[in-house]
Formats: sequence, C-alpha cells, structure tokens
Amino acid sequence: MSAELIDGKKISQEIKTEVKASVENLKSKGIVPGLAAVLVGDNPASQIYVRSKAKACDEAGIYSEVLKFPKDMKESELLELIQELNHKDAISGILVQLPLPEQISEEKVIKTISPEKDVDGFHPCNLGLMLAGKPTFLPCTPFGIQELLMRSGNDPAGKHVVILGRGSLVGRPLSVILSHKAKGANATVTLCHTGTKDIPRYTKQADIIVAAMGKPEFLTRDMVSPGAVVIDVGVNRVEDKTCEKGYRIVGDVAFEEVKEVAKAITPVPGGVGPMTVAMLMANTLKAAKMQKGLI
Ligand code: GUN
Repeated sequence: MSAELIDGKKISQEIKTEVKASVENLKSKGIVPGLAAVLVGDNPASQIYVRSKAKACDEAGIYSEVLKFPKDMKESELLELIQELNHKDAISGILVQLPLPEQISEEKVIKTISPEKDVDGFHPCNLGLMLAGKPTFLPCTPFGIQELLMRSGNDPAGKHVVILGRGSLVGRPLSVILSHKAKGANATVTLCHTGTKDIPRYTKQADIIVAAMGKPEFLTRDMVSPGAVVIDVGVNRVEDKTCEKGYRIVGDVAFEEVKEVAKAITPVPGGVGPMTVAMLMANTLKAAKMQKGLI
C-alpha cells in the first residue's frame, strides 16, 4: 500500500488564489496590502525563502519591498529600519528573515516590530494572544500545517497528534494551536523532544505525526502505525555525490519507507514549505484589513 500524497503546492495555490481575490476587493476600496521582507547576510536558504515570498506577493497583487543588507550590518541600523517600516503606511507587514548574524539580537528585532505588522506572529504580544486563544497572527508554518490538515480532509479534532520537536518556530506553537478548543484544532497533543525517552512509544500511538526536529529521515517505518497521517516539516541538506550540486534535500521523515504504512504523507519539497509562504500572504492581507479598521 502507498500513502496518499498531501499536495502542499496545490493547497497553497488555492489559498493564494483566495488571498488574491480579497486583495483585489481591497484594492477596489483604495487599499493595497504591502510586505517588507528584510534579509541580512548571504545565507543561501534565506535568500531563496525571501525570493519566494516576494514572488508570492507579486502573484497575489500584494506590494512588496525586499530590503537586503550585508552580514556585518549593525543591530542599531536594523532596529532603526524597523521603526521606519513600523510608521510607513504602504507597509502592512514586516518580515525579518531568520536566522540573523550573531551581532544582532533576534529577540530585540522581533520586539521592535510593531505587533500590528508582525505577520510572522513572533512578537511576544502575539505569542501571548495565541496562547490565550485570542485572534492574532499565527506563525506561518504551524498555521500552514493546520490548513494543510483541514484542506486535505484530516481534521485534527479528537485525534492524537504527536509533534516531534519543540522549536519556537514550529513545534511549540503548533502544540498550542492544535490543543485549543477551536475549529481546526481540539486535538490531544503530545510534544516529543530531546528529553523524551522512547519516542517510538509515542509516535506509534499517533493518528497524526508532525516531524519538525531537523534530523534527516529520523521518522522511520517502524515508528509509524498503519493509517497515520504524516506531516514532514524538515528541510535538510544531505551529502550526495550523485547529485549535480553534491547534496540533496530530505525531510525529517524517511519518505520512501513511511509512505508504505501511512494513510497520507507530505512530500519534501512540495509539502509544508509552500504553505508557509501562502499563510504569510494571508497574514499580510489580514494586517492590511486590521490597520484600515475593516476587521
Ligand atoms: N526562518 C525560517 N522560518 C522563518 C519564518 O517563518 N519567518 C522568518 N522571518 N524567518 C524564518
């Protein structure tokens, strides 16, 4: 048996089409949503991510600015730039691509972004609202995973979701989001991490497994019960001399073997990745509407 593929590219396209329609409607009222994407340094993965975010803005009719700076940029310069963007009317959302060079405090940067423009959902105010289950900007990757589950017919309500990895960008916020008593949530959540003894004991009891710990092909067939839904958040480079680039990208799931037991599985690439970008567009649209008093 082979699992159904959960097509993140297709589902993200549906969301981007919905966003585009709302953007056109806003434009007819004279409102244009705008995103500022800030990139510091030359991390190759970050460059690709920022480019794909700007392209998605173009496709959705969202105005975008990509602001690039050298890796020796001073923290004070970046904080000043963010203050300017906080006050700039054409900018509804601000995204500072992480990770940042070591001379810059990510915490200070995130706290400087106005919570109303924090389309990444990383500001402590927005994290607090998320924890309280109040309306806010949800971090794009966990938000995208929730949408991916719902739109692929795998509502997490009443299910046992086992999350691997407690990182602040994915695992930890996802555990909060899916445990709320709300639509698209209401799951029983187990959060496994480096302190967990006997991880397979938990994954074998899971209806839904989300692998987000950043370990190449960690989740193997023997850890998954037949019929589970498997979401792979990993993006890992592994050396492969047979590839042109000398490496290939694999997820946190041993895809070829897990697909033989799972009911449904996300590919890497083409699973969670495109969803993150689609939810950023949705958050930018929401920011524009909020700032104009429409929601
Ligand atoms: N780096 C990895 N994921 C993300 C993300 O969702 N937002 C930002 N700003 N940086 C990231």
